[in-house]
Amino acid sequence: MQIFIDTANIHEIKEATKMGIIDGVTTNPTLIAKENRPAEDLLKEICALVPGPVSAEVISLETEGMIKEARQLSKISSNIVIKIPLVKAGLKAVKILSHEGIKTNVTLCFSPSQALLVAKAGADYVSPFVGRLDDISQPGMDLIRDIKTIYKNYGFRTKIIVASVRNPLHVVDAALLGADVATVPFSVIEQLIRHPLTDIGIQRFLDDYKKIPKK
Ligand code: E4P
Repeated sequence: MQIFIDTANIHEIKEATKMGIIDGVTTNPTLIAKENRPAEDLLKEICALVPGPVSAEVISLETEGMIKEARQLSKISSNIVIKIPLVKAGLKAVKILSHEGIKTNVTLCFSPSQALLVAKAGADYVSPFVGRLDDISQPGMDLIRDIKTIYKNYGFRTKIIVASVRNPLHVVDAALLGADVATVPFSVIEQLIRHPLTDIGIQRFLDDYKKIPKK
């Protein structure tokens, strides 16, 4: 499974990249707004740091506007992937952009029927939001299981990005279900690393090391 980092924060991206565990980045307007910098400059810097796909979202809600924004954003770098909201106009945009060779990530997916149409339209990625489903008492991971089954049944090549990840279990479940990608906030990456028994084990080794007689 690939791991993307779900952030627009340069420090977090640098830290995660140094660990060698990051295959790409996803951003959205909320994440970019937190950085208080012009979006284009920020995206340029992110694309230079991470060789993998970097998702940048369009704002327009009409097909023409989405395509215009997508063409503009894709000039930033060859690794930009255009994030398109899952609406009728978005599916139309995906079809046109995929013929132009511009990669797309259809975002805000909350149902298997939506995911089926995303694949039919020819998107490169679909982003089902598991955390936001959990928030309304609908198990987000059930959606991943369903999409996985549908895509497997028909050999769809659209990759599933498990998004709106809120905790380490989301990541483990994504991997168990065979999702292509999990996009993970930096705080959850840190949680994935930590284990209390590792810390206890290190402390015990350090304490015992002190007991070894010196020459
Ligand atoms: C994914 O691409 C989105 O940027 C993100 O995962 C949304 O997460 P949230 O529901 O925590 O805002």
